[in-house]
Amino acid sequence: MTDQAPNPYAGPQRVLSGVQPTGDLHLGNYLGALVKFVRLQHEMPTFIFVADLHAITEWQDPAKLKGQVREITAAFLATGLDPKVATIFAQSAIPEHAELAWVFDCVARVGWLDRMTQFKDKAGKHKERASVGLYAYPVLQAADILLYKATHVPVGEDQKQHLELTRDIAGKFNHDFERPGFFPLPEPLTQGPGARVMSLRDGQVKMSKSDPSDYSRINLTDDADTIAQKVKKARTDAEPLPEQLEALEGRPEAQNLVAIYAALAGLSPAQVLGEFAGQGFGAFKPKLADLAVSVMGPIGAEMRRLLADPAEIDRILGDGAERARAIATPTMAEVRKIVGFWAG
Ligand code: TYM
Repeated sequence: MTDQAPNPYAGPQRVLSGVQPTGDLHLGNYLGALVKFVRLQHEMPTFIFVADLHAITEWQDPAKLKGQVREITAAFLATGLDPKVATIFAQSAIPEHAELAWVFDCVARVGWLDRMTQFKDKAGKHKERASVGLYAYPVLQAADILLYKATHVPVGEDQKQHLELTRDIAGKFNHDFERPGFFPLPEPLTQGPGARVMSLRDGQVKMSKSDPSDYSRINLTDDADTIAQKVKKARTDAEPLPEQLEALEGRPEAQNLVAIYAALAGLSPAQVLGEFAGQGFGAFKPKLADLAVSVMGPIGAEMRRLLADPAEIDRILGDGAERARAIATPTMAEVRKIVGFWAG
């Protein structure tokens, strides 16, 4: 990709991340992203949005989309995002996301997008039938981030490649328009044992909203019995848990359950092994189920309570959109001038 000189960005530090409203949120979304949002909101100005423009890269029922946006917003709030501290909004409320994405479509190279593995996974064998939006999706993601000149982006590991593309787009824009440091080169924040939560049915594939088996994931809205059942049925092997982390190599399911326990308990995987070494899954799984129920159960209940008052959720999104606009409008006005548009 582009040669990037050190970037002299000197603006304020900001956190930004987004979640697509395309299905129930699961433990992977929670540990890979939501938990980090909650922590970071007290460290830097934080912008968290529901990516409804991204959602329509694949067909969404227009009668349901708004409700899906409210559900993700309820999940943010139930997890602990404080709308007075963090700016929570819907992507479609700020049309500048799409406008900046167009400018970036003309900065990014086809060769860069051709390398995106998520497009290959999602488009499958028939890429000529995928929407153009699905192909250009990572460019819109770059616009989401850079419209707010975000410096830190908490995401799961599956988004790392999109963050690299964002840095390349920022670097090429700054270089081509001779504005060094105009856009920051944002850092992905992916650390921690929850960065890549795997399916409960197969330790080699990530936990995902689109997996046809509901037993592959724990949803934020699952009740206690369902969570316990899913943990009980999770695929494992016959060996007891080892003393050393290295001994989990080649045991992806065991590794995944230990990582989930660690992330939910706020421990390191080594500490979890310290507690459970020598025990089999017959003993470990009930402990994991109890832990998952104690962390996730209250979140589901709080989501249901919040969703009973959609007007309040809309009020929060409206307030967040106003605060987001205060950053997005001036950035886009500067970009129009830099690019030389007549309407700049
Ligand atoms: P999305 O909606 O697929 O997922 C939301 C967040 O959850 C993380 N995640 C996981 N983390 C750990 N283990 C898993 N199994 C797992 N599955 C999902 C994702 O990494 C993500 O952080 N393109 C983004 C949404 C987006 C965005 C942005 C993110 C749009 N614009 C700008 C950051 C900045 C997506 O589809 O995430």
